[in-house]
Amino acid sequence: MAQKSMQDLFNEELEDLYDAEKQIVKALPKVAEAVESEELRNALEEHLEQTKQHVTRLEQVFQSIGREAKAKKCEGMKGLLEEGENVISELDKSPVRDAALIAAAQKVEHYEISGYGTLRTFAQLLGHDEAVELLEETLEEEKEADEKLTDIAESEINIEAAEGEEGEEMEGEEEAAGGVSGRGGSSAQGSQSRGGNSSAKSTPTKKKAPKTSTAGHRSSGR
Ligand SMILES: [Fe+2]
Repeated sequence: MAQKSMQDLFNEELEDLYDAEKQIVKALPKVAEAVESEELRNALEEHLEQTKQHVTRLEQVFQSIGREAKAKKCEGMKGLLEEGENVISELDKSPVRDAALIAAAQKVEHYEISGYGTLRTFAQLLGHDEAVELLEETLEEEKEADEKLTDIAESEINIEAAEGEEGEEMEGEEEAAGGVSGRGGSSAQGSQSRGGNSSAKSTPTKKKAPKTSTAGHRSSGR
């Protein structure tokens, strides 16, 4: 068994995350293109620009500790991104696919949050003050990106995805009830416009999907 110092470990984790960020830069355009929701697409495109900055910021971290930027294949990120690709190839465009892509994107975010949290803590331990600041900055952006995905999921996409299912089973009923409209498409708040409060089925629904993300962002690196 080999011995490693904390500095070695820091270097390795840094190389791993550097590779992970580069993989994300490559993968994100395809995901953004695949989603149906415009709001989600905008968020992903915005995060792509941020991610490019994260790559640059990691290069600054390397520089700040006097090392050359080097990427070490991040197998974890590779697997997560492959899962996202599978969602795109296996499902047709729909709110449910968007919900699945948000789930995949949040796994990516959580991986990064964990990575940056750990690196930041190691940097503190090793007295790399400049690195601490740089890592902290990105860590905050990753958390914000994760929260934004939760917001989009909960305010729009999960609801539409769940309504699609409801809509199918209620089709007949509503017509019978006089065809109150307002179902179609993008009304995220559609439940009021649905009309048929006559139908017992229409009320108890999954209006609020469970939180997409509840995991402890704080769990890492403390
Ligand atoms: Fe990032």
